[in-house]
Amino acid sequence: RTFKIAVLPGDGIGPEIMEAAIEVLNAVSKKYDLQFEYKEGLIGGAAIDATGDPLPDETLKIAKESDAVLLAAVGGEKWDNLPTDKRPEKGLLRIRKELELFANLRPGKAYTALLDSSPLKETLIKGVDLVVIRELTGGIYFGEPRGIEERKGEKVGFNTMIYYEHEVKRIAKLAFEIARGRKKKVTSVDKANVLEVSALWREIVTETHSDYQDVELEHMYVDNCAMQLVRRPKDFDVIVTGNLFGDILSDEAGALTGSLGMLPSASIGERYALYEPVHGSAPDIAGQGIANPIAMILSAAMMLDITCKVPQAARDIENAVEKVLNEGYRTGDIWSPGTKKVNTKEMTEAIIEHI
Ligand code: NAI
Ligand code: MG
Repeated sequence: RTFKIAVLPGDGIGPEIMEAAIEVLNAVSKKYDLQFEYKEGLIGGAAIDATGDPLPDETLKIAKESDAVLLAAVGGEKWDNLPTDKRPEKGLLRIRKELELFANLRPGKAYTALLDSSPLKETLIKGVDLVVIRELTGGIYFGEPRGIEERKGEKVGFNTMIYYEHEVKRIAKLAFEIARGRKKKVTSVDKANVLEVSALWREIVTETHSDYQDVELEHMYVDNCAMQLVRRPKDFDVIVTGNLFGDILSDEAGALTGSLGMLPSASIGERYALYEPVHGSAPDIAGQGIANPIAMILSAAMMLDITCKVPQAARDIENAVEKVLNEGYRTGDIWSPGTKKVNTKEMTEAIIEHI
């Protein structure tokens, strides 16, 4: 089968790790008889330099004509002084909005070989395999009214946390579907003891659950969830939550199981999907060929799983990554004494050898 892939390398280490991911995709494509048609687009600072716009129309068009978007990272000092509306990150926010990517998936999987560099006890982390599903297009980050204004003789800042029934329903459905392919457990996280928006969230998730009786559902307050994640992370499978709580919990889950260079993500809508590493453009190491390509490579693996529906190809990549780590290969960011320091190219080649 043929898939159209929009390739958006962006800034900093973006082009270096994107090249690595595409080499890995090409290696698995042979094995599974998949065809990829890549179309490259500009985004972020690179797009600002070329067109003045962090998300040019041409890029959006390429994205909308694709089956999946691969995005590396955007941003850098060069563009830091532009107004918020014109900055590289605006390109990211806009493409997510334009593609109506309402859910962000962040797997948190502990790699045994890296446990030595984890600040948490091996017994606690070993075997952790969870995914945080964060609502991405609603909630307090977008709710109206919002602003800063004068009231009663002083300034006041305000935002609105708001969720429509349909927004909760579609992400709850996605969470239950994904749980079906995993350990069949969903933890819905809210603050229903204080917030009306959370009371509705809980009601709709419970209602949606009636179509997924084979999946276990539990509700948890966000403060408790933050605590349980560090106390007993193994008990979680799928965590589903709103935009603000998900922003925080997905970072927490990520820090628990891996370092930044290891963490992939997927953003899913009804029609489009975008796959990108969690980390940024790492300007401090850009251009040196030493970036860790694994987060980008694992993001491409999520694409094989979710968009291409070839889970076995995704597992092949994940297993190859695990083997290479077990063999002691490390890029600088995950290096520890006694392991073999490699650059981006060497890491990528080692992974491909195991596919
Ligand atoms: P960052 O994630 O780019 O880097 C944080 C630290 O982790 C740096 O020391 C970096 O060298 C290291 N690092 C990150 N990814 C790595 C990799 N694959 N291999 C090896 N080391 C890696 O976050 P930072 O420094 O806060 O932001 C840098 C730029 O990236 C800023 O312009 C920021 O706005 C942008 N950014 C973009 C994101 C995106 O495109 N999704 C997300 C976060 C930040
Ligand atoms: Mg965050």
